Amino acid sequence: MALVNEHFLKLQSNYLFADIAKQVNRFKVTHPKAKLIRMGIGDVTQPLAPAVIQAMHRAVDEMARKETFHGYGPEQGYPFLIDAIIKHDYERLGVFIEPSEVFISDGAKSDCGNIGDMLRHDNSIGVLDPVYPVYIDSNVMAGRTGTFADGHWSDIVYLPCTEENGFVPQLPSRRVDIIYLCYPNNPTGTTLTKEQLKAWVNYALANDAIIMYDSAYEAYIQDPAIPHSIYEIKGAKNVAIEFRSFSKTAGFTGVRCGYTIVPKEVTATTLKGERVPLNKLWNRRQCTKFNGTSYITQRGAEAVFSTEGKAQVKATIRYYMENARLMKEGLEACGLRVYGGVNAPYLWVKVPDGLTSWRFFEKLLYEVNIVSTPGAGFGPSGEGYLRLTAFGDRDETQEAIERIQHWMR
Ligand code: MLT
Repeated sequence: MALVNEHFLKLQSNYLFADIAKQVNRFKVTHPKAKLIRMGIGDVTQPLAPAVIQAMHRAVDEMARKETFHGYGPEQGYPFLIDAIIKHDYERLGVFIEPSEVFISDGAKSDCGNIGDMLRHDNSIGVLDPVYPVYIDSNVMAGRTGTFADGHWSDIVYLPCTEENGFVPQLPSRRVDIIYLCYPNNPTGTTLTKEQLKAWVNYALANDAIIMYDSAYEAYIQDPAIPHSIYEIKGAKNVAIEFRSFSKTAGFTGVRCGYTIVPKEVTATTLKGERVPLNKLWNRRQCTKFNGTSYITQRGAEAVFSTEGKAQVKATIRYYMENARLMKEGLEACGLRVYGGVNAPYLWVKVPDGLTSWRFFEKLLYEVNIVSTPGAGFGPSGEGYLRLTAFGDRDETQEAIERIQHWMR
């Protein structure tokens, strides 16, 4: 008889965005004529950059000829993409990364979810609250989270990010082994300054902790003083693993490509105290469980760093950030308090008094036909907020704001 991993049974029945999709589908059945505007899941709407499409077409043609066909590629990714990442994403920040520290994957979600494979089940975990649900759910599956009551997992240290603390989390009051940070933040759309991030790196150095740093939204940073990578902070290469994605940077949500930096210096210990470099273990894990991102996809990702690719991708990011600006202004004009949306594609909206975030979500869906994400779905401190994404089409974004303004008057 096969025994189930009972930790899975502790999970809420659906992943947050699957739950929302279910509610939206139910709405569509009962309201077939309603014109829905989707500002829920952070999925992009603009097409891939022409430079990416051309590179992918060329790669498809290569696959059609015996002489240029590619079968299995390196599990870690092709050197052409790894070199482009090092040069364009890190050298410009003055950060030195070795090719063997870069692991190309099918996206940051998989890597954030799988990274715990290398770490014991009894490590203590610290997460921002609200938080991207993958960090918690994947640790629930691994048995690191204890029991769930009143919106909290017993073995997780929650680090509230609230209006009161300006969405800047305090350092944990008790020691944690692994800390998940996401900046620019999903879902609040807020950022940390270099000084604020430095406090976390220093915490990890002082407490022998590891930071899992998700910087999937770094391309949306507008303020030159805000760090794009945790490795801009001295000492971070000893304690941090960084996740990046082409999904939001270059519209790859449906193509799937991301990468993870596992510096050689980052270690965890055995029970006997022996230090083990995680780079070696992650390489071993990937070689066993992952057969690499497709050649065609990696050629497309490489083109993001070409001169034309960079300009085209930047133009799309400007488009989304203009959406964010219009949304923020429009919502504030209705008297709503809005955070984020300046260095990130997410707006974190304070729900009007007396409503829960799920209730406000339902009202937006049923009364103005707009899909959002209720803040409570991201954790206890998300109650009282709603997340809206700026990844929409411009006309729809403007229409959504007009609908909300009209509705709130
Ligand atoms: C989100 O809406 O939070 C993201 O799109 C989800 C993801 O990237 O997996």
